[in-house]
Amino acid sequence: MNENIKIAPSILSADFSKLGQEVYDIDRAGCDYIHIDVMDGHFVPNLTIGPDVVKSIRQFSKKIFDVHLMIDPVLKYIPIFADAGADIITIHHEIEEDVFKCISLIKQHNKKVGISVKPSTSANVIKKYIEYVDLILVMTVEPGFGGQSFIKEQLEKITKIKKIVGEKKIDIEVDGGINLQTAKDCIDAGANIIVSGSTIFSSNEYVSIINALRNV
Ligand code: DX5
Ligand code: ZN
Repeated sequence: MNENIKIAPSILSADFSKLGQEVYDIDRAGCDYIHIDVMDGHFVPNLTIGPDVVKSIRQFSKKIFDVHLMIDPVLKYIPIFADAGADIITIHHEIEEDVFKCISLIKQHNKKVGISVKPSTSANVIKKYIEYVDLILVMTVEPGFGGQSFIKEQLEKITKIKKIVGEKKIDIEVDGGINLQTAKDCIDAGANIIVSGSTIFSSNEYVSIINALRNV
C-alpha cells in the first residue's frame, strides 16, 4: 500500500439525498480526506454546498475535511467554514480579494492553508505563496463541475510546481478528471493527494476503487 498517497473523495459526486451516509461509507472504505467543493455561482458557474452542510456532515467522519472554496468574496466566509469543521481551507489564486489576507485569516483559525490554481494559471505564481501554504491544489479541469475530462497539459504544471516546492513539506493535490490512468500520471509528475469525485462515487465498491487509486 502506498501510504504516501492520500485519497480525497469529492462529495460533489455523492448521492446528496443521503450525504451523511455517503461520507460515513467513504470514511469506512479507507479514504484519507473528505474533499468538499464549495461553489458560489460567481467565481465558478455552479452552486453547491455551504457551511451548514459541512457542519451537518461533520458527525459522520473524523477524517480531514478538505474544503475547496471556489468562491469570491471568500474572506468573510473563512471563519464560518473554520467553525463548521474544515481542517484544510483552500482558496483560489484567481480571486479578486487579497489572497494573503485570506491566508493569514485561515492561519489565525489554526487551519491548514491551501492555494489553488486554475488550468490557465502559470505554475510560477506559486512562488510567492510557497512560504505561507501547506498545500497546492492544481486544478486539472476548469473548476465548476464534476465529471469533466482531465486536461493533460496540467501534468507539466505539476512537474514545475514539484520543482518549486523542492524539499519543503508542502502537499501537491490534484483535482478534476481523475481516474486510474490520470491518477498515475499525476503521481508520477509529483502529486501526493488525489481528489476524485465521479470515479469513486460511480463505483459500487468504494474500498476497491480507493485502494486502486492509492496503488496505481
Ligand atoms: C471541480 C471540483 C472537483 C470535482 C472533481 O470544480 O473541484 O473536486 O468535483 O470531480 P471529478 O473527479 O468527477 O472530475
Ligand atoms: Zn475540488
